[in-house]
Amino acid sequence: MARLPVIVGNWKMNLTRSAAADLVQQLRTELDAVRDVEVGVCPVFTVIPLVAPLLAGSAIRFGAQNVAWADSGAFTGEVSGEMLRELGCSYAIVGHSERRQHFGETDERVNARAKAALRWDLTPIVCVGETLKQREADETMTVVTAQVQGCFAGWTAAEARRAIIAYEPVWAIGTGKVATPAQAQEVHAVIRALLTRLFDAGTAQSIRIQYGGSVKPDNVEELMAQPDIDGALVGGASLKAKDFVPLVKFK
Ligand code: 13P
Repeated sequence: MARLPVIVGNWKMNLTRSAAADLVQQLRTELDAVRDVEVGVCPVFTVIPLVAPLLAGSAIRFGAQNVAWADSGAFTGEVSGEMLRELGCSYAIVGHSERRQHFGETDERVNARAKAALRWDLTPIVCVGETLKQREADETMTVVTAQVQGCFAGWTAAEARRAIIAYEPVWAIGTGKVATPAQAQEVHAVIRALLTRLFDAGTAQSIRIQYGGSVKPDNVEELMAQPDIDGALVGGASLKAKDFVPLVKFK
């Protein structure tokens, strides 16, 4: 089954308003005509209302880097799916390793956050990935399997089809140490096989699995050539048009 590649920039805690506006305008000029790749950017919450009108009518989508599991109430510091929906967001990244590492995010929480995204018609980008220590201890498949099982526990196949999974080995994030295409493909294939067991073959074939971790214009093509790599979640190389534009136009 053909899956539309999806490349999303995760800006993390970078770019204030003027830099974000400049970048988005350049991306719109350069990438608006791209149709063979779904393109998105995920700015910090405060910049989303600025980016939204700049991308109105554009093929480039935008989203948030997190979403609350609850819809409203006493959750200081959180932002709900409804609030993101009303800004026009398409995506919510959930369970990024930086959230797991610095903010105590668990698979149960990620599961609930992703479900909240679905309630508000946002596509959850569910992040999983092993640390260097886990890879060296040969635990990669066990760790990633447990994360996917936990993040999708209790979901129906119809719900799962609406998600994107991002495999981001922690040791490859922001380090310049990209996983080899074979290393990434091996994990993506395990995730897809697991999705077949959790749901069904049709669902597993339709879910897009992005790779993330030091994706750059010069390595994206060989990653994307792998049969189970359907896109990229890009950090550092999404902050400058001179990097993100050629990365999206990798073909
Ligand atoms: P880098 O592309 O900077 O390695 O970051 C990857 C990432 O964490 C995207 O979510």
